[in-house]
Amino acid sequence: MGPIYEKTATSPVNIAVIKYWGKRDSVLILPTNSSLSVTLSQENLQSKTTIRASPDFKKDRLWLNGVEEADVTKNKRLQNCLRETRRLRKEYEKKLCEEVGAENTIPLSEYNVHICSENNFPTAAGLASSASGFACLVYTLAQLYELPVSDTELSKIARQGSGSACRSLFGGFVAWEMGSQDDGSDSQAIQVAPKDHWPELEALICVVSDAKKGTSSTEGMQNTVATSPLIQHRIKHVVPERMKSMTEAILKRDFRKFAEITMRDSNQFHAVCLDTFPPIFYLNDVSRAIIRVITEYNSSNESGELKAAYTFDAGPNAVIYAPRENIPEIINIIAKYFPGDIDNGNEYFTDPYHLFSGNQVGKQPLPRGFNEQIIPVFAPGSVKQILHTKVGNGPQTLTGKADSLLDEQGWPKRMT
Ligand code: DP6
Repeated sequence: MGPIYEKTATSPVNIAVIKYWGKRDSVLILPTNSSLSVTLSQENLQSKTTIRASPDFKKDRLWLNGVEEADVTKNKRLQNCLRETRRLRKEYEKKLCEEVGAENTIPLSEYNVHICSENNFPTAAGLASSASGFACLVYTLAQLYELPVSDTELSKIARQGSGSACRSLFGGFVAWEMGSQDDGSDSQAIQVAPKDHWPELEALICVVSDAKKGTSSTEGMQNTVATSPLIQHRIKHVVPERMKSMTEAILKRDFRKFAEITMRDSNQFHAVCLDTFPPIFYLNDVSRAIIRVITEYNSSNESGELKAAYTFDAGPNAVIYAPRENIPEIINIIAKYFPGDIDNGNEYFTDPYHLFSGNQVGKQPLPRGFNEQIIPVFAPGSVKQILHTKVGNGPQTLTGKADSLLDEQGWPKRMT
């Protein structure tokens, strides 16, 4: 067997604090406003992808989450990412040819690829996986092809897989600058601050049960742009100012400002959804109740400081950002009002950072001044899971043989 051309890498999930909602070009995926997100730790949530290129492969093939093969030809966005990275590889091969000669240049751009990708979190949890998935695809291809380009350059390709994916190419705090060019050449992600810039900031994800399947982001934002007058106000008069203030808040580690903008921006995103015709509802009763408890938690606090910030994407799950010192209190409040299902006792809250001793989650007293009557206690299982996580790093390359998702012959390990 000849040499093997294969790479494995992982990529993180990101959760926006200034939301991307609306496209001005739906093929190149160019947004109608800039956005800003926090990259979450890969300890809890990540996508992993192995890609191999070989002259022996008959066609490009893709396997997702260890299940059946997906049809690559039907996935336009994947095709776009593949085409763009191959184009860069081709350019690079040309340059290599001139420098080291054709006999020393491997024509990887002409080989078919086998792609195997999976998430370490259940897709059923309803957590967006397209951002980490497409970031991982593009990052792994760039490693395989040894592309001499920056992560910002790669972000423009990941963007064509899923808009929010461009922000998952960096760790820490990341802005997606909307750009103004028609070809998308300036619509790219940049790092605002690295992961270690604000180590006290942590996150909780409350996985909220939802029976029905909601409107996809892609379809939802299309309808908003087509029908909502409010989104125009957001695009022109709200987001530009917020991008500046949020960047400042992050650079100064100003939680009050960070929290206020985060909550206001989530609220406005859901307001433009309601202003869409027909309206789109992503928040449910449990989501709204979480907003009420976080608001009570903030306003009952004597110091007047904000202690936590909620944000919601295109679904009912809540993400709560807070300084580390407040995290145990918040988990306790959430677990009190939204207890776990007995059947799901072990999954509900795994306490990865050992904050509670024994079975104290949800059993400790509420903070002083907190109005206990603010909402009723919800039925067990209304929140399925509380995930405690931190700010994390960008994509990582894995080098161990055991890390590969493909076997010796280049077929998915889990399927053989
Ligand atoms: C609400 O990136 O999933 O999470 O570009 O159509 O793939 P496409 O949409 P996607 O939209 C994410 C929307 C959001 C806000 C955000 O992440 O900024």
